[in-house]
Amino acid sequence: MNNKKRLIITIDGPAGVGKSTVSKTIAKRLQLKHIDSGAIYRAITYKVLTLGTVQGAIKGNGNNGNTLSEDDIVTIAREVKIECKTSGRIVLDEDEVTKQIRSQEVTRCVSTVAAYKGVRDVVVNILRELAANGGVVMEGRDIGSVVLPDADFKFYLDAALQERAMRRYKELKRKNKDIELYKIQLDIKHRDKQDSSREIAPLIMDPGATYIDTSVLTLKEVISLIIRKIDSILRMDSMVFFDTSNLFYYIVCFILRLGYTKYFGFNIHGLENIPATGGVLLVCNHLSHLDPPAVAVSLPRQASFIARNSLFTTNSLFGWLLKRLNVYPINRDGVDRDVFKRVTTLLDDGKICLAFPEGTRSKTGQLQPAKPGIGMMISMAKNDGVRFSVIPCRISGSDKAFPPEAKWVKKYPVNLYYGKPIDVSELLVKQDRSYQAIADRLMEHIGRL
Ligand code: DC
Repeated sequence: MNNKKRLIITIDGPAGVGKSTVSKTIAKRLQLKHIDSGAIYRAITYKVLTLGTVQGAIKGNGNNGNTLSEDDIVTIAREVKIECKTSGRIVLDEDEVTKQIRSQEVTRCVSTVAAYKGVRDVVVNILRELAANGGVVMEGRDIGSVVLPDADFKFYLDAALQERAMRRYKELKRKNKDIELYKIQLDIKHRDKQDSSREIAPLIMDPGATYIDTSVLTLKEVISLIIRKIDSILRMDSMVFFDTSNLFYYIVCFILRLGYTKYFGFNIHGLENIPATGGVLLVCNHLSHLDPPAVAVSLPRQASFIARNSLFTTNSLFGWLLKRLNVYPINRDGVDRDVFKRVTTLLDDGKICLAFPEGTRSKTGQLQPAKPGIGMMISMAKNDGVRFSVIPCRISGSDKAFPPEAKWVKKYPVNLYYGKPIDVSELLVKQDRSYQAIADRLMEHIGRL
């Protein structure tokens, strides 16, 4: 299997099955690029329709009387310049056409245009180039079977025609479109037939794909099914082929985990909220020296930590140990830009970083106000264009197991709760983007766990 950052996931299936919502959400959750291959066929079709009509397509296509042949259309496909922006916008010959390619006219003609071999050759090349460095979720009809046959995970979504038509109908109705259900059903049926019966790269399920019948599932259930499938395999993968670059880390974690489970009693909740891949900033309340190791041993992936400078200098052996356990020093009083840069780089490299927004252990067991540093860290990483998830984490019991003034630990169960990823744009709301305000919002999320 590829390096996790280079993961390639394909999601194929007929029209109206919910591929787009599912693929976009999966890409967001795993911090991968989302590519909608149908949008490229649509962009070419849109260009074609500005120049003429498509022979053989459903009646009513094109404003221009000039009927274009297959050769004309293939020439147009070879000449147009299509850009798929990360935001999902589609740019055709420098003009944005994101909305236009969803018009009914384009929808009616796209299956005909997409059946031409010359057009498919052009699009397949574009798609393979977009996926060349991996890190993508690509949706379409022939992605797992033809375009990216070596993908790490392939899914095929399906649903009964009536169900798909109903979903599309509801979607269009929400946008206040004047539309009739039976017409949508006929259109989808026609496109199904064209997409499945064409000679080149017809819509078929790749034998290596996981089949999901979405007829009786909600989109949320489909997404969770896919994530769980990917997650469980990646976890198995990382257990067998874990990152041997820091074997020491794993050995220490293994021993510590035994200690936490057997001695204190260790309960971990919400581990499914930790993305299997990509940068993750874990923000946790702080009660005890037991907290960072508790987080480290609970995670299926290696984590990096930041700790105050003095921990590294008071005892050089301890400092040496911390460095080998991915701990980076931070100057707690000032604003340590170097550490922020380091965290940004770690997140950009797809690592998990643990941060304690409160900066210091709570003496009362209650949550304390956050320091502004964490707000600055998130702003900087965002400004640098780094894609990462922010996951809130709440620990309890560790203050009883190792109280601040105590010399040694005692038996007391430690609980860890991981929350759902926090929407970073919600943290950076326009009204107040001060570092302190961002940090305070984070604490509210932790407080809710
Ligand atoms: O998913 P969509 O409805 O946006 O796709 C538009 C058309 O493009 C669809 O009718 C078939 C075609 N298509 C294809 O032939 N191969 C793909 N990989 C993706 C789409």
